[in-house]
Amino acid sequence: MSDYLWFEGIPFPAVGFAKEILQEACHKFVIRDEDTVILTYPKSGTNWLVQMVCLIQTKGNPKWVQSVPVWDRSPWLESEEGYKALINKEGPRLISSHLPFHLFPKSFFSSKAKVIYIIRNPRDILVSGYFFWYKTNIVKNPESLRTYFEWFLKGNVPYGSWFEHICAWLSMRERDNFLLLSYEDMKKDTKSTIMKICDFLGKKLEPDEMDMVVKHSSFEAMKENNMSNFSLIPEDMITNGLVLLRKGTTGDWKNHFTVAQAEVFDKVFQEKMAGFPTGLFPWE
Ligand code: A3P
Repeated sequence: MSDYLWFEGIPFPAVGFAKEILQEACHKFVIRDEDTVILTYPKSGTNWLVQMVCLIQTKGNPKWVQSVPVWDRSPWLESEEGYKALINKEGPRLISSHLPFHLFPKSFFSSKAKVIYIIRNPRDILVSGYFFWYKTNIVKNPESLRTYFEWFLKGNVPYGSWFEHICAWLSMRERDNFLLLSYEDMKKDTKSTIMKICDFLGKKLEPDEMDMVVKHSSFEAMKENNMSNFSLIPEDMITNGLVLLRKGTTGDWKNHFTVAQAEVFDKVFQEKMAGFPTGLFPWE
């Protein structure tokens, strides 16, 4: 069991990350105008969105998503491998990142690069994160969901507090180069979400191309696809049985929270998110 790698107050996974790289990635990396960044708090649907964007780029042709691992198609900026891949990459880059707002490279804020940010019910993120991280050897493992619940509310989980991540990034939501999506809408109306992404990226799909994007980014297709289901993660980083594509549903938290936990969560949510308009969060 590893602890975290702490960097500027944020807990990062202890394997695959290094202070010197974080320093470079957060403070020196140059975001270019033609870059597209997929930005999320972990377990919000990052890999699903990467799959959609890749398929939009290939107009539904699945060859790329079936032959290249997700982390090579959209390298993870702040990780050691991702950073090295990105600095040497030419042309428009697809970049994944979970960085909180204050650590994201400042070069973005004066660029025309596009950011797509997904929000998801934090209760589902908590449950998804619990079942994911405890099967890895790269972060501090909780002994129970009860413990993880407490850590999550304190922000003592990978990438820190969900509340702080969301509050800071949502301050960007009126900007033209920022697209806000939700996991809940991606589930409820996948095609509309894909259309929104196309509009944002200036792409157009014919109806049959759209059908192919939907098909190859579906939960079932991604679960079958070794390039998107994390089965290629080295065995020394995970324990037997790590699954990325776990349930892929909304509201699974109801199967795991006690009534008391649900009440505590509601209270904290209301306190911390009071400044946002009702209706912004599709799960409330
Ligand atoms: P669950 O653990 O609730 O099943 P991330 O990619 O940010 O790590 O998020 C992982 C979550 O997204 C997991 O949630 C996973 O099942 C879900 N997910 C990934 N691909 C999906 C898809 N095609 N459709 C629905 N959910 C998907």
